[in-house]
Amino acid sequence: MANFKVSILFSTLLIMVLQLLFSPSEADIKGGYWYSESGLAVSDINASYFTHLFCAFADLDPNTNQVTISSTNAAQFSTFTQTVRANNPSVTTLLSIGGGGGGATLAAEFANMASQADSRKSFIDSSIQQARENNFDGLDLDWEYPSSDTDRSNLALLLREWRAAVDQESTTSGNTALILSAAVAGSDQISSLDYYPGTDITENLDFVNVMAYDLFTSDGYPTSTQPPAPWNNPQGQFSVDQGITTWIGLGVPASKLNVGLPFYGYKWQLADPNNHGLFAPATQGLGAVAYKDIVSAGAEVVFDSSFVTNYCFKGTDWFGYDDTESTSTKVVDARERGLLGYFAWHIGQDSNWALSEAAFNA
Ligand SMILES: *[C@@H]1O[C@H](CO)[C@@H](O)[C@H](O)[C@H]1NC(C)=O
Repeated sequence: MANFKVSILFSTLLIMVLQLLFSPSEADIKGGYWYSESGLAVSDINASYFTHLFCAFADLDPNTNQVTISSTNAAQFSTFTQTVRANNPSVTTLLSIGGGGGGATLAAEFANMASQADSRKSFIDSSIQQARENNFDGLDLDWEYPSSDTDRSNLALLLREWRAAVDQESTTSGNTALILSAAVAGSDQISSLDYYPGTDITENLDFVNVMAYDLFTSDGYPTSTQPPAPWNNPQGQFSVDQGITTWIGLGVPASKLNVGLPFYGYKWQLADPNNHGLFAPATQGLGAVAYKDIVSAGAEVVFDSSFVTNYCFKGTDWFGYDDTESTSTKVVDARERGLLGYFAWHIGQDSNWALSEAAFNA
């Protein structure tokens, strides 16, 4: 009888441990990047719309291969976590390193850092130090983009060594291990996804932010209006959904993927103000525009449910973008595909938190 009770107790404990091990370690992620150059003060972030906030960007020093924070950003970054927790005590914060702004030069500096054991160690050790000194819960790698077979194998080494170092630091310090994530290209239309090491990403990162936007920009397609980040593409190969399928094909499960929501769109000049649908002739592309500036243009808004995009027009001005309808539809679609969640790039472009709220409530 006693043995029976002990074995019941043991089985119950075993089941509890297994549940802890195999239940998703993260709740659904409702993420947003705060970009230091956006003009939005950290104290003005309404953190109640987010489970995770990414502070962008820390830099990679190409001489020392260390992660640094510029003197202009130092004060805001060091108080970021404390400030956003004032209105959401449970929000998780990550320090994001790199970004797209550095272009090919920065991409080459990441490639160089990842190519040698000692430079990877400089990057890894300094990243952990920056996260701890500035009170972040995790680190987010924004290398845009690995672009060769060599980059892929070096990125794999970097991720393995980063995970080992973070686990070691947690053991030594007694603190919860830092979260590790990466922002990655969202489609072969943007950068070849073949250059990502899927298995090493799955084994070493907590989650991945899939930058599923900029598929059809006004710079790339200046002669006709486009849906910049369509969930579906009834007329062609590339879409958000197709990018996610490719990521899963690389061996990263849906449960580790967050889909990117662009809080901006692209502007075109219509050839004819009366011909204002998707793929209408345009005379020129006029670049990226923040959501809040599209809203203040006061144009007539249309939702296209087959592509899952919004667009709006006024005179010859035409904007392709995600408004509340396409944003909330994408969040529902992401859930149906079993994704972990979503993230916004970037929250300083929202208009009175309209998109953040639509995504949060979807
Ligand atoms: C943040 O948003 C929530 C949800 O809409 C709202 O209840 C709260 O008042 C907002 N907080 C601030 C500081 O504006």
